[in-house]
Amino acid sequence: MNSKVIFRLACLLLLVFIAFLFYRLQQKDKEKESGQVSATSEETLSVIHSRKSVRNFVPDKLVGEEDIQKIVRAGMAAPSGRDLRPWEIVVINDRVAMDTLAAKLPYAKMLETATLAIVVCGDTTRSPLWVYDCSAVTQNILLAVESLGLGAVWTAAHPYEDRMSAVTNAVGLPANILPLAVIPIGYPNGDFEPKEKYDETKVHFNKWKKAE
Ligand SMILES: Cc1cc2nc3c(=O)[nH]c(=O)nc-3n(C[C@H](O)[C@H](O)[C@H](O)COP(=O)(O)O)c2cc1C
Repeated sequence: MNSKVIFRLACLLLLVFIAFLFYRLQQKDKEKESGQVSATSEETLSVIHSRKSVRNFVPDKLVGEEDIQKIVRAGMAAPSGRDLRPWEIVVINDRVAMDTLAAKLPYAKMLETATLAIVVCGDTTRSPLWVYDCSAVTQNILLAVESLGLGAVWTAAHPYEDRMSAVTNAVGLPANILPLAVIPIGYPNGDFEPKEKYDETKVHFNKWKKAE
């Protein structure tokens, strides 16, 4: 191979490399625009294992608009049966609305210090699997909250009739939309530690393992 050919090959390789870099940069921009972020498996697992219920928040420390967007987007990234996505998300970040909800839900006292609440609801006319689908949304929201350095707790509305009607009245939900969970969110006030829950005896490979 003469030096001219080698030079041309080197130029070609350089061009391919630049094109690849350009492509990767464009991909990253697209990920940013759509709110996606890439994380290593270690970071992802660390968020999963760090999640814990937080029931006390720094009063008046507001969750930023950008974080609210990320949390809601993460919720709606959940899987759903037949991809029907029967969820509806009510975001409550107005103090008066938060206090109205807190007054109607004595079991969710943490709403008094939370600065944000997300009510995960399901459209019963869209899917009979709405409870499962909306549970996946709720867990996604809890994980997104953890990853953003915020705290939250899943408080049940469904299947308790009294809680569901309290939420329905406070938020003004139509008859076909049922609330699954109310998630108070905010900056944690105090130390909250995740529990170690791994239990080897509950893991069964290939066949049910009898207790000894
Ligand atoms: C379906 C469901 C309903 C829950 N309801 C409530 C609730 O009404 N009030 C509450 O304080 N916590 C509630 N929790 C939170 C649990 O108490 C909490 O997840 C559990 O104690 C484990 O603690 P951890 O979240 O810190 O791991 C609920 C959790 C789930 C999954």
